[in-house]
Amino acid sequence: MAVYEPGEDSELLKQAVEQYAFGEVLDMGSGSGFLALAAATKKEVTNVLAVDIDDESLEHVRNKVKNKKIKVLRSNLFSNLKNESFDTIIFNPPYLPKEEKDEHQALYGGAEGYELTLQFLEQAKKHLKPQGIILLLFSSLTNKERIDQEAKKLGYHFEQLLMEAHFFERLYVYKLWRLGDG
Ligand SMILES: C[S@@+](CC[C@H](N)C(=O)[O-])C[C@H]1O[C@@H](n2cnc3c(N)ncnc32)[C@H](O)[C@@H]1O
Repeated sequence: MAVYEPGEDSELLKQAVEQYAFGEVLDMGSGSGFLALAAATKKEVTNVLAVDIDDESLEHVRNKVKNKKIKVLRSNLFSNLKNESFDTIIFNPPYLPKEEKDEHQALYGGAEGYELTLQFLEQAKKHLKPQGIILLLFSSLTNKERIDQEAKKLGYHFEQLLMEAHFFERLYVYKLWRLGDG
């Protein structure tokens, strides 16, 4: 599978990463390592774990992204992360509704598009430090209401940091956090 080339989605989330990322960072679905590198470049960031399900992407980050703060791990969402927790979790997920024959993991987030994002939010809860934040990108093609609803149900507070209108969709960046166990 080809390494995901950073697009408008990556650029938008990068703005939030540059402003908000701190401490120990997890870059979920790291792809080319574009966001991992943006995070690692910040002095407020101590280290970055770049996770992807795709071996080619991991190879790319390992060999082409030169920054000593970045480590790489293969994992399907959080499956290979045990008790590790993070100050900042970044995710630019595959979010398009899946068409029958298309299997491109970098783009498709499930039958409706948002399934992988919801699984991520569910699993991320236990990997977030008490003051930790999630920086999440999604699209209007993903069903914003459903994301809002599920995030609330899972006990997240959230704020829309950025929105960008493109010709057939809007891209959103949310900051999410949790208060206590709520
Ligand atoms: C839209 S790309 C984003 C890449 C990069 N973060 C960026 O912003 O340019 C989504 C990435 O998520 C990865 N991915 C897809 N499903 C995953 C899963 N279940 N667990 C971890 N990574 C996954 C894909 O391989 C791909 O690299």
